[in-house]
Amino acid sequence: MKNIDSKSHVRGESVYLDDIPLVQGTLYACVFDSQVAHGRLRSIRTAEAETSDGVVRVITSKDIVGENQIGGIIPDEPLLADGEVHFQGMPIAIVLAESEELARRAAKKISADIEPLEPVLDPRVAAANGDLIVPPKRFKLGDSDAAFERCDHVFEGRADVNGQEHLYIETQGAYALPTEHGGLRVYSSTQGPTAVQRAVCRVTGLAMHEVEVDVQRLGGGFGGKEDQANAWAAICAVGAQLTKRPVKYALHRMEDMRMTGKRHPYSADYRIGLDKELKIFAYEATFYQNAGASADLSPPVLERTLFHCTNSYFVPNVTATAYSCRTNLPPNTAFRGFGGPQGMFVIESAIAHAAEKLGVNAAEIQKANLIDNGDEFPYGQIAESDAITTWTQGDEKYHFAALQHETDAFNAASKYFKKGVAMMPVCFGISFTKTPMNQARSLVHVYTDGSIAVSTGAVEMGQGVNTKIAQVAAEMFGLPIEKVRLHTTNTLRIANTSPTAASAAADLNGKATQMACESIRDRLLEIAVPLVEAETAADLSLKDGFVHRNGERTSLDFNTLVMDAHLQRVNLSEHAHYATPGINFDWETARGHPFAYHVYGTAIVGVTVDCLRGRYEIDYVKCCHDFGSSMNTSVDYGQIEGGIVQGIGWMTIEEVFYDAEGRLRSNALSTYKVPDIYSIPKEIAILPLVTSRENLAVFNSKAVGEPPLMYGIGAYFAIGNAIKAFRQENSPPSEGGMAAASADGVVLSFDAPFTAEKVLMSLYK
Ligand code: MTE
Ligand code: MOS
Repeated sequence: MKNIDSKSHVRGESVYLDDIPLVQGTLYACVFDSQVAHGRLRSIRTAEAETSDGVVRVITSKDIVGENQIGGIIPDEPLLADGEVHFQGMPIAIVLAESEELARRAAKKISADIEPLEPVLDPRVAAANGDLIVPPKRFKLGDSDAAFERCDHVFEGRADVNGQEHLYIETQGAYALPTEHGGLRVYSSTQGPTAVQRAVCRVTGLAMHEVEVDVQRLGGGFGGKEDQANAWAAICAVGAQLTKRPVKYALHRMEDMRMTGKRHPYSADYRIGLDKELKIFAYEATFYQNAGASADLSPPVLERTLFHCTNSYFVPNVTATAYSCRTNLPPNTAFRGFGGPQGMFVIESAIAHAAEKLGVNAAEIQKANLIDNGDEFPYGQIAESDAITTWTQGDEKYHFAALQHETDAFNAASKYFKKGVAMMPVCFGISFTKTPMNQARSLVHVYTDGSIAVSTGAVEMGQGVNTKIAQVAAEMFGLPIEKVRLHTTNTLRIANTSPTAASAAADLNGKATQMACESIRDRLLEIAVPLVEAETAADLSLKDGFVHRNGERTSLDFNTLVMDAHLQRVNLSEHAHYATPGINFDWETARGHPFAYHVYGTAIVGVTVDCLRGRYEIDYVKCCHDFGSSMNTSVDYGQIEGGIVQGIGWMTIEEVFYDAEGRLRSNALSTYKVPDIYSIPKEIAILPLVTSRENLAVFNSKAVGEPPLMYGIGAYFAIGNAIKAFRQENSPPSEGGMAAASADGVVLSFDAPFTAEKVLMSLYK
């Protein structure tokens, strides 16, 4: 079944923030932001901007009626700089003008006197200075210290992984309108309507029931609008409150890139110990997360790095420690995988390191250590694992050994082009790791004409959650999907929402919708009992628009039944609440059962490297992916393809680059490259694994939004293998070939992304 939005998307009729018809009197906001990454804000000169054409008002921190604070988890993020600036791009003042152009023109006339201070950009330096966002977090299983003593092989090294620009097609933005009695209605391009509502309330001093937040859909979020939509909504709200006029701000691409945080870069140290059978017996990792200037979502992102630090492997002795380090970069934030990919990259690096030193294929180590049923994760949850199944089924279908053989044969015959292949297993936990967030609500109305309106807390951002929820309602009432309409995510209809994140939106909101529909359906079937002369409602069902009795269609159609129920004064609406059962986590002991279930999968990634130029192509990604029971294969396959391409982009060509002053140099699409049609894999093959277990999500489906991104990590190691093939031929035998090369760490370097420049340097160092 197609995504319900596909037609209106293709026709350009879908409504995004910038398409909302504006109310007369609307003002346009533009932010004046810091050019300096770290400094003391001595004064702001706004006089020239205030008298600039069309300017209605200039706002600085002292004008804010409520609190100058938008930090969600930790109150360490002023909306407008006050006293100090902490990153380049930090908002200092807001201009409100009669047109967008006039606002931008006036913002250029503002200047600030900032006494520069030394910026800290390296998380290890911040950690050494003791500048942490939260105290360090640690997971411990077994006794790694003692275990290393007993290992046959121990390797240690360092792995670095860079950030990633979200590059949602729709930039950040908001539109705030004053309503009666001093309230506000805010349209926002946000994954978290309630987070926006809270931030708006904080800066305006309004109570939550005075602020309505409404979201139609996003042109992509990818985590970048989980928390970071708040600032723009707060800015519009402050403007609307002070001027009593509607205020809109939709960021230009370069503003968005400069002022918003990205995926967290990490630097990590690892130590891995194996026995003779290649079993990983001990693993230690220390993660330095580059959090940027304020907490944002860094603490839970840091936690998820720990939750996924052993990826799909069972390791009996693990010590993993993570530091969230405060630096002078824009606050880094959620990004598809939420810290999990960064954790996985490090253990995959450790395995690649061990494989190279031991002269074995990394796949042998990976396979020997896949987590099995009953194994314990380093946080105490016992695995119900399909890791081995996805590996073996993927291998049976796509033949890793044959692909490796093909690669070797190609390499033997080719001097300047080398191929590489790598396996990438993935295990990703589903549920917000903060247990209270795993709740959702759905409001379902059945109208007297038999049509159905559904509102939930889920935000549609291209991932197809509205299609899945519409499918749930259609299925529950036995109606075609056209009879169901999903409405905007609105804090008046659905309160206290969790953000659409953690891949759990369809799980949570779909279940709530199922429950709401079930209640209405049961009431309808009770009404139907005498009408179709049934004995009990248990004999009745709804299918194809008719009431069925013992599976046989009756003459009573849905519309007649609904009208009848209404005339008998039966409630045709329901507001249902779902909370994921059976999950818990306690940070005191760092143990619990945080995830409803895990998603498993295994990918094989093949690449070809041009060893004269350092360029490469991704030949294929072939994966076996565990869907549970997919609710919508076209939506889910789209998520897998998109996730893989986004993951490959992160690992290969996307390079977020800040200079020594903390200025973003990759600040436009000319200097920041994401995968395009030419750089996506030539082939993506998906073998669906159907699994069924208790406690899966709605209709036994599994979440699919984030896990496939991590298949992209395989591209890094496939490129690494191609480079090794080239170097093996081209390093002088007197130096002992690979062994000598790796002794000084030349061949092995784990520093993602593997840009063409880095590939070239690694080929010839
Ligand atoms: N797919 C599209 N097209 N656009 C997006 O912004 N976000 C991803 C993923 N897939 C995203 C996407 C992220 S980060 C998450 S957490 C999930 O979708 C959220 O949606 P879900 O919970 O419905 O899977
Ligand atoms: Mo996704 S990073 O959980 O929004």
